[in-house]
Amino acid sequence: MCGIVGYVGHQQALDVVLDGLRRLEYRGYDSAGVAVITADGLAVERKAGRLANLEAELVGQEGFVGTAGMGHTRWATHGAPVDRNSHPHRDVSGKVAVVHNGIIENFHALRVELEADGVEFSSDTDTETVAHLVAREYDGDLPETVRKVCRRLEGAFTLVVTHADEPDMIVAARRSSPLVVGIGDKEMFLASDVSAFIEHTRDAVELGQDQVVTIARSGYEVTDFYGEPAPTNHFQVNWDLSAAEKGGHDYFMLKEIEEQPEALANTLRGHFVDGRIVLDEQRMADQDLRDVDKVFVIACGTAYHSGLVAKYAIEHWTRLPVEVELASEFRYRDPVLDRDTLVVAISQSGETADTLEAVRHAREQKARVLAICNTNGAQIPRESDAVLYTHAGPEVGVAATKTFLAQIAANFLVGLALAQARGTKYSDEVAREFHELEQMPAAVSQVLQTVDSVRALGRQLADSKAVLFLGRHVGYPVALEGALKLKELAYMHAEGFAAGELKHGPIALIEQDLPVVVVMPSPKGRAVLHAKLLSNISEIQARGARTIVIAEEGDETVRPFADELIEVPQVPTLLQPLVSTVPLQVLAAEIARARGYDVDKPRNLAKSVTVE
Ligand code: F6R
Repeated sequence: MCGIVGYVGHQQALDVVLDGLRRLEYRGYDSAGVAVITADGLAVERKAGRLANLEAELVGQEGFVGTAGMGHTRWATHGAPVDRNSHPHRDVSGKVAVVHNGIIENFHALRVELEADGVEFSSDTDTETVAHLVAREYDGDLPETVRKVCRRLEGAFTLVVTHADEPDMIVAARRSSPLVVGIGDKEMFLASDVSAFIEHTRDAVELGQDQVVTIARSGYEVTDFYGEPAPTNHFQVNWDLSAAEKGGHDYFMLKEIEEQPEALANTLRGHFVDGRIVLDEQRMADQDLRDVDKVFVIACGTAYHSGLVAKYAIEHWTRLPVEVELASEFRYRDPVLDRDTLVVAISQSGETADTLEAVRHAREQKARVLAICNTNGAQIPRESDAVLYTHAGPEVGVAATKTFLAQIAANFLVGLALAQARGTKYSDEVAREFHELEQMPAAVSQVLQTVDSVRALGRQLADSKAVLFLGRHVGYPVALEGALKLKELAYMHAEGFAAGELKHGPIALIEQDLPVVVVMPSPKGRAVLHAKLLSNISEIQARGARTIVIAEEGDETVRPFADELIEVPQVPTLLQPLVSTVPLQVLAAEIARARGYDVDKPRNLAKSVTVE
């Protein structure tokens, strides 16, 4: 949430910064702003709404000539999304400009202190305090000033600071929010993520916790908040620009739905070596894995739904009890944790505040934490004892799609790794399960070839007031995910239910022509559940619902119960969510498009949620 870009080099900073912001707009689109250091001081423009509003405002403005600058795209926390709360924020003299991602928790006390000093604020944001503090403390050494100010700040922040008197440098700081440096040829970049600068360089450095970086044309310097040189993580970006661009699709989300077979294959690749499941990083002993006696899966939103799917597999394969919990609830209810508890933290971004705080709580209670994450080196994997990366590539659409499938696959790998460590599965069984997983990219490709009818159905449903989703067993989390996608993309009332719960209340919602999506289990794999779901469908059909049934190819018994039938390939029961989720993603996207919404940037949302 909030994207930041900084640049010092030989190109016009405004162009580089706007290009970077375009790629980071998924992080927030309540407002955008830029600052360029020019021969006449700082040139600043900012505008509420999408980046396009800022770009329109900049047309014809000639004062933005300079080769150092920064930009921001905002997801509002403190202060309404209006022009005056947009970043960059300046001090009273206009010499200092600051952009910020995160929340400064002690901003109120700082504001009171500054106001007592006679400072007049021009916004409602927490960020403006930093601009005034920097101006007050500045004594000709900008990096030292920023360090001094950071030592007074509480909360989470990435800050980028410029000063008109220091035209050849930009200083940035990081605590618990992301910041990467791009190293070019006589040019340096700063950004919330590498997609902002991979057009220019793939050579990157990731900052650690409580670090300050100064970039200049000649290079960069990283220290801690006290000025001591600090270690950083230098890496090469191994995905290319096209991965972050739309590739001919109207929306990133549509491209990302199509990328799911590849995302799955990449997530599995290299994790079964010499007959054993291997993780990407393991900072805990094998014995610790063997000693695990309970598993908690914690995550938010779509990642949480992937955890609900995982529970069925992990319990089945390991015979360990698995609890799946929303990260935002977990640490506030005193969960029973000890050193034999494994907490699996799932997060695409690796920076979701609710999940990060839950991880910290678990580790304070001595539990081991295994992170499943799509972002190399993000905070959650850094603070975990083991890591399995979902190699889904960058996901720009705000609604998670390919990372959901990749998270399910990664969860299954964790389940198999645990089963293998505990000896509840022989290696030939692990090999067999892994082999089944390897067939899934092809199965998902097959689904993708047949979704045109789902698109047509989506257009028909665009005027519905609500849609319900039902499932049982692993179909239940799929129903929840289908409802979440529809809510967030189409702003339509949607609810997912365990089908067995229907008659305990939700059936009262059924009325004539209400669309109800039912995720059927396999008639062979789960015959009893299949029969029960057919009864559930009859109950809703009898009350006038329009039934949309997702069922296995060749399942003829379901036809009389389906007003619309969506067929998916036959796959093992535990893996069914990997195929049955795909039509629901397509359905939600198509309904949203038919209603005229931007599926990449649903209202009020941001891709990574770095506040609790
Ligand atoms: C929904 C969606 C969100 C995220 C949730 C967790 O489409 O994307 O529900 O799944 O905010 O985000 P991460 O996985 O980054 O922790």
